[in-house]
Amino acid sequence: MPTPMRRLLLVPLVVLALLAGVTAAVTAAPEGQPTGRTDTLFPQQGHPGYDVRHYDVRLDYDPATNRLDARTTVRATTPQRLKTFSLDLVGMKVTSVRVDGRPAGFRRDAQHLVVRPRVPVTGGFTTTVAYAGTPQEIVDADGSTEGWVRTDDGAIALGEPVGTMAWIPSDNTPGDKARFRFRITVPRGVQAVSNGDLVSKVDRGAGSTWTWRVRDRMATYLAMVAVGRFAVHRSSMTSVTGRRIPIWSFVDPTTGRSTTARAALPKVLRFQEKLFGPYPLTSAGLVVDAASVGYALETQNRPFYPDSVDSATLVHESAHQWFGNSVTLRDWHDIWLPEGFATYAEWLWTGAHDGRTPAQRFDDLYATPASDGLWSPAPTEFTDSADLFGEPVYNRGAMTLQALRERVGDTDFFRLLKRWAAVYRQGNAGTAQLLALAEQVSGEQLDQLFADWLELDGRPAGY
Ligand code: TRP
Ligand code: ZN
Repeated sequence: MPTPMRRLLLVPLVVLALLAGVTAAVTAAPEGQPTGRTDTLFPQQGHPGYDVRHYDVRLDYDPATNRLDARTTVRATTPQRLKTFSLDLVGMKVTSVRVDGRPAGFRRDAQHLVVRPRVPVTGGFTTTVAYAGTPQEIVDADGSTEGWVRTDDGAIALGEPVGTMAWIPSDNTPGDKARFRFRITVPRGVQAVSNGDLVSKVDRGAGSTWTWRVRDRMATYLAMVAVGRFAVHRSSMTSVTGRRIPIWSFVDPTTGRSTTARAALPKVLRFQEKLFGPYPLTSAGLVVDAASVGYALETQNRPFYPDSVDSATLVHESAHQWFGNSVTLRDWHDIWLPEGFATYAEWLWTGAHDGRTPAQRFDDLYATPASDGLWSPAPTEFTDSADLFGEPVYNRGAMTLQALRERVGDTDFFRLLKRWAAVYRQGNAGTAQLLALAEQVSGEQLDQLFADWLELDGRPAGY
């Protein structure tokens, strides 16, 4: 746990980091810096002493046995001098750890791999972990499952909020975004899809190796690998900037063909580009896989859908590519930021396509009795991770944006959406940053509105 002392020591480094950021483009958010604090809801996850730049994840997976043989290389930097450091990892048997090429000592506790390098690390350092076994499916406080989820013909790895620790030794907190490469070897005839861009698929012997590269910084909770039999669809679209965006979609044929959703995807993204600014990632697509988890997930570049893809969910997960994936929360208690924006994106879509307008949705929801679960706990005030995906986060979160829109007017509101996506692109930001930007864009004082909508228990009065 961070001590006040450690926090003090970090201050000059943060200042240096901010100064360094000034030399970059004004709109570029700085690389995730050690924050000196742990997550409000998941204090066990994440390690503020270092900053990961890149994960190289090699997986060898056989659907017949559900056994994973893996080797992950983590490239990180630290401003400190670390005698030991931890990575988040649950289950799996670790067979070796090397730091900067030399064998290192290690031990395990329930959710961590604790590494003791031969000599303390400082500055840049590289850790390679070899591990194997049957990765765990994780059951969360709300009863939902994530982690390594087995399917009829393989498995899918889903990581919100913490499941990535089942298969990647990582700094498993959304504030430490990094680039990734996945090299996944599976039996020939089986497909392996992940985030980012497909670099190559090489057949050798009885296996195929699929290499995916994630060039946009990604939070660990958005990492995804799905292995199984999929129909692979390759196409592309043109961004508002003129850039060509490759689209790879992988559809489990037992779920149907998802033809409508695949055809709708470029239309949805183009609609959202007009409202939110250019699509923030190198590539797009979708993954439909019959995994009985009961939710869709905005896995980066390529959201996961558990069965046929309805239009509201397609719009929701697509909007997350801007809000959540490119602009990422730093602490899970800000979950209303991705979910409120993605829900509001659904309202914008139906409003523009012969449905209820956002104002009508707001009014209908506002009529919900004051005793309803919509009003409590307030979006930023829950303390139990079972409430992460509750109604206040989604609907009251979206209502917050509508209340803000009515207060500042359409011009400033839509300017804010674009500014938010641009200023914090590929970075991290929380509620305080949104409030500051909204006040800057509108010239109005908005702290009371934010407090009413996000913090007040019960239905805010007078809206
Ligand atoms: N973040 C997902 C979305 O809104 C939803 C989600 C992830 C979820 N995990 C969950 C919903 C668990 C309910 C339970 O797209
Ligand atoms: Zn969502």
